[in-house]
Amino acid sequence: MTEKLTVELGERSYPIFILPDWDAYAEAIAEHAEITSPPTVICDTNTGQYAGDGGLLIELDAGEKTKSFAQLEKIHEEMALHRIDRGGKIIAVGGGVIGDLAGFAAATYLRGIDFYQVPTTLLAMVDSSVGGKTGINLSAGKNLVGAFWQPKAVFICTEFLKTLPPREFSAGMAEVIKYGMLYDRALFDQLVALEQPLSWDHPELPGVIRRCCEIKAEVVKADEKETATNGGRALLNLGHTFAHAIENVAGYGTYLHGEAVGIGLVMAAELSLKLTAEGRAGFQFTQADVDAARELVARYGLPTSLKDTLDGNPPPKLDIDALMDAMRRDKKVRAGKLRFVAMETLGTAVTVDDVDEALIEKLWQQFS
Ligand code: NAD
Ligand code: GLY
Repeated sequence: MTEKLTVELGERSYPIFILPDWDAYAEAIAEHAEITSPPTVICDTNTGQYAGDGGLLIELDAGEKTKSFAQLEKIHEEMALHRIDRGGKIIAVGGGVIGDLAGFAAATYLRGIDFYQVPTTLLAMVDSSVGGKTGINLSAGKNLVGAFWQPKAVFICTEFLKTLPPREFSAGMAEVIKYGMLYDRALFDQLVALEQPLSWDHPELPGVIRRCCEIKAEVVKADEKETATNGGRALLNLGHTFAHAIENVAGYGTYLHGEAVGIGLVMAAELSLKLTAEGRAGFQFTQADVDAARELVARYGLPTSLKDTLDGNPPPKLDIDALMDAMRRDKKVRAGKLRFVAMETLGTAVTVDDVDEALIEKLWQQFS
């Protein structure tokens, strides 16, 4: 059954469709994407198979390195060459890399044109295609250049996941687990209770994706541009301050984003336990919570520390000073203070910005 949610953002509100099969997907695109002239479809070498016919097709190399100024320029030049005007639409068919890049291309071409998200990875379905964060990486850090630019609609169809490599599916599960940990204990418990782990054709997957999108839509509605001084959209970054540092120091692409998030989630759980031990008001995180988080992350074959093998290989050795430096460059740093998302209890996250650096250094040691 087709499901529809709405991201409520006033005149920039848009629907998210969760579609059970290809027919429903084709129907939804035909009915709800307002495309009057041939669109610009942006995909990568693995998602070109889903790009469809007609319009301008821009196929880019797969991988995180594609989220760059060079590829952004290529998109803009091709669109200009084909005389795409302000009525032109971009359709992003791919994972978070293509969605973020194509969204930023849409935000900046002719000062902004419409775009649609067709997420083809689990990570993109539950996270990156919703909420309007678009952008590219710099060598100094991930997503350092970008714009908030909401899509006109998001079309999610789990059939895409049939061809997604298992390692990528697992990486997406890190973001799914993240929602349970930061916002919804019942979702976390549902994931723990599953007899069979989720897979592309698991009957519970569409419902889980729907719940993740619902949570993201609620959080984005309340704090679209992440300006809240406490909580708000920043909560979606649970585990990400650690994860971004890991990705940056290991070199983009060494750890998949979701794999780095897997480690980051367990580190955020440990941090929450340490803040509880410090006697922080509101914190009641337990060792059992840390263990449950670690077990759930590990169940999907994700690393839970920097010691774990990576895709069956020995992990890279990461320098703790370099990790600390990378954290200091994080976008969440405010007035020179490291800012973290931690959990008072499993399912309730808060932002904390007076964490002792020495505590964080110890955490890295514990996980290295
Ligand atoms: P990705 O886009 O690189 O896709 C992962 C791999 O899967 C790629 O090789 C891709 O070609 C391939 N692929 C995609 N769909 C496929 C399919 N259906 N079948 C076969 N192969 C397929 O990575 P991702 O994990 O989707 O996204 C990671 C990116 O998302 C990062 O850049 C991260 O910063 C960004 N992100 C953005 C947000 C946001 O709010 N904008 C949120 C989370 C993550
Ligand atoms: N993935 C974090 C956000 O969208 O805010």
